[in-house]
Amino acid sequence: MKHISTMLLILAIIIFLPSAFLPKENIAKKSPAYLGKLLFFDPILSADKTISCASCHQPALAFADSVAFSNGVGNKHTKRNTPSVMNMASRENFFFDGRAKTLEDQVLFPIQDENEMNCPIPIVIQRLNDSKKYKKLFTKIFHEAPNAKNLSSAIAAYEKTLETSNTANDRWLNDKPNGLTPLQIKGRSVFFKKGKCIECHFTPDFTGDEFRNIGLFDGEKWNDSGRYNFTKNVNDIGKFKVPGLRNVAITAPYMHDGSFKTLRQVLEYYNHPELVINSTVARDTFLSKPLNLTEQEMQDLEAFLNGMTDNDFVRK
Ligand code: HEC
Ligand code: HEC
Repeated sequence: MKHISTMLLILAIIIFLPSAFLPKENIAKKSPAYLGKLLFFDPILSADKTISCASCHQPALAFADSVAFSNGVGNKHTKRNTPSVMNMASRENFFFDGRAKTLEDQVLFPIQDENEMNCPIPIVIQRLNDSKKYKKLFTKIFHEAPNAKNLSSAIAAYEKTLETSNTANDRWLNDKPNGLTPLQIKGRSVFFKKGKCIECHFTPDFTGDEFRNIGLFDGEKWNDSGRYNFTKNVNDIGKFKVPGLRNVAITAPYMHDGSFKTLRQVLEYYNHPELVINSTVARDTFLSKPLNLTEQEMQDLEAFLNGMTDNDFVRK
């Protein structure tokens, strides 16, 4: 008897757990976003059909990954840390170096990237045309057979539904119950004033979509040139896209190379960058002088960052 109830419990957990993590969605059946969601979770887009977008962009982690470099097909791994793909609808550039201008353009990169899905686009399109299910859905939704353009549109439409606005910070701003705690309100003040975080991480999504240099480049251990890789402009060496900070508490590890495992480590870096790396290109002027945050201010700031998690992602 005890056995059976344990088994039932395990079964219930298996059935209900994944849905407990998924965000509330408002996706109309047979819409581009509906099709995009199917494609986002389908390994059919990768060379050996083992990796989907969601293998790296995991819903339970705000569509980021828990490792510094994610696994792609054939035991390869990504060159950068996997960022969250939530709150992308208002972004102006994509990737840490901004090499994609629109969410639609972005889609075709990971499919072809040899370290990610490693599949030529014509093969993917052939597979979708060969699939009865997809051929039917594409025709119904886009009134044409699957092609690179409608594939991109569908996935981008799905990503645009992944907006989060139900955080303690949002509730506090809108005078709703369960807003920021007194500690988080103090942390918010550090974020806006002494910490100067707001200079680059603007609201509402805590990014200004700019490329900035916080000092994580020395040409040796830290040798990703960032934005320079795309523009070839020497002034862009060491600049990276400012990531948004919504749900940041659940997207560890941090930075373009996942080198900081916790938010505490990120804050220690901002407070004393020189203790971590002797960067060879000058840091942004906002970070040229020590922040001199006290232990209490560090704790308050961390508490504030924890207040940016959308409730829909918290295990109920
Ligand atoms: C093997 C892991 C992996 C897979 C599979 C993968 N991605 Fe990514 N994704 C990454 C990494 C790593 C980056 C950052 C790369 C960079 O900046 O150069 C990224 C970046 C992105 C971005 C840009 C986010 C931003 O803030 O600029 C979007 C959007 C995205 N991926 C969507 C997708 C979609 C859609 C798919 C499936 C078609 C996909 N990814 C498949 C690892 C992956
Ligand atoms: C001069 C602009 C600038 C300032 C000021 C700044 N940031 Fe950043 N922040 C960035 C950039 C650029 C990155 C990405 C760097 C990288 O990936 O190498 C980043 C990354 C982060 C990350 C990691 C996010 C992730 O998903 O990996 C966190 C957390 C963060 N910043 C918090 C803060 C806090 C808190 C402050 C204030 C103490 C602050 N930032 C001040 C530009 C800035």
